[in-house]
Order: sequence, then structure tokens, then C-alpha cells
Amino acid sequence: MEQYPNVFIFDHPLIKHKVSILRDKRTGMKEFRELIEEITTIMTYESMRDVELVPVEVETPLEVTTQYRVPEESVAIVPILRAGLGMVNGVHKVFPTARVGHIGMYRDERTLEPQEYYCKLPDGIGDKTVFLVDPMLATGGSACDALSALKKRGARKIKFMAIIAAPAGIRAVAEAHPDVPVYISTVDRELNENGYILPGLGDAGDRLFGTK
Ligand code: PRP
Ligand code: URA
Repeated sequence: MEQYPNVFIFDHPLIKHKVSILRDKRTGMKEFRELIEEITTIMTYESMRDVELVPVEVETPLEVTTQYRVPEESVAIVPILRAGLGMVNGVHKVFPTARVGHIGMYRDERTLEPQEYYCKLPDGIGDKTVFLVDPMLATGGSACDALSALKKRGARKIKFMAIIAAPAGIRAVAEAHPDVPVYISTVDRELNENGYILPGLGDAGDRLFGTK
């Protein structure tokens, strides 16, 4: 797998542990949802390292001190529907006041081409750091199109976060959007002929929401 300067792969033992349970086909919907959330929270800590802080005066019981905060209005979360919804609470645990936009994309099961069916974003998206989230990065089609859709609507500072990625998807996003930092918890081997990630975890949306 090539090295791309905008791609950050996590190599955290806790994430490895949780991903191994996530992959297990015996893991039920409730635990699956909780694990997606927990992994997202760990990833959010790391991906927020360069987030902009502003100085604020804070009065402690002893004196006034200058401290640093993330401005309330400066972060937005945009899940790619449906499976990205499972990651929203994970980011909110770290940054509870982040506004949430939604982008609806589905993969045409025959062509594997992504189709946008919904987009609603918070006002002032151009001034916010936008966390685009989706647990699965397979061919990269959905993420690439979602990033283009965000940019078309004025987003300028975007970070993309995915839990499991295939090398082809990483390549596609890194090359189409070299300006976007991409955070991946685990890189898998390959895609099968139906565009599923191997070894993967199956269909993330179905496992999160109990469909199929
Ligand atoms: C899954 C996943 C990604 C997409 C990844 O969504 O959540 O959005 O596939 O595949 P790609 O990288 O090849 O585009 P899916 O289309 O299954 O929709 P869902 O979330 O509604 O289940
Ligand atoms: N979407 C999923 O949910 N799983 C995959 O393996 C590929 C795309």
C-alpha cells in the first residue's frame, strides 16, 4: 500500500481489540453499535489534534487564567447515510455541541456506483471543520462523491474518518481529494467481486440497524 501524506492509519491496540469483535459474525446489533461508537471516539481524539483553539479567560476559585477551547460553532459532523449514522454519537462524546449534517448515498448493487439521494448541511459549513464519517471505505466511490458534494456546498476544511478500508478505497480518496486528511482505523486486504471488503465485517448498515 502506497504512502499518501494525507492518509493516517491508526495502529492502536485498543482499536485492534474492538475491531476484532466488530468483525465477528456472532456480534449482535447492540454490541456492534456500541463498538462502532467507541472506536469512533478513540479515532476522534487523534483526528482532532490540529483542531483550532481560541484563548478564553477562565476564573478558577483562585485566579484568572488564559485557557484554550474549541469554538462551539466550529465543528460539524456529516455521516454518510446510513452506516455513517453509527459514528455520530462517537464524535459527539468528544464534542457534544457539534452540528450534524447528513449526506444520503447508496451504492447501486449492480454497478457499485454511488448515488446521492439526500443532502442537508448546517449553515455556515464553509467556516467549520467538517468530520465526514462512514465506517466502510470500499471502492471509495461513496466517500469521493460525498467529499465533492460537501466541497460544492462550500465546505473548505474537511476530515474523513472510516473504520475499515480497502486499499483501493484509500487510493481513490487520497488521489481525488489530496487536500482532505483521511483517518482509517484498519486497512483490510481487498475487495471481493461484489465490492465487499475482505475480511471486513459484512454490511455495516445492515449490522447497525438490523436490516436483512
Ligand atoms: C456502504 C458504506 C459506504 C459504502 C462504501 O454503504 O456505508 O457508504 O457502502 O462503499 P464504496 O466505498 O464502494 O462506495 P451502502 O451503500 O451499503 O449503504 P447503507 O449505509 O445505506 O447500507
Ligand atoms: N459497505 C459495507 O457495508 N461493507 C463492505 O464490505 C463494503 C461496503
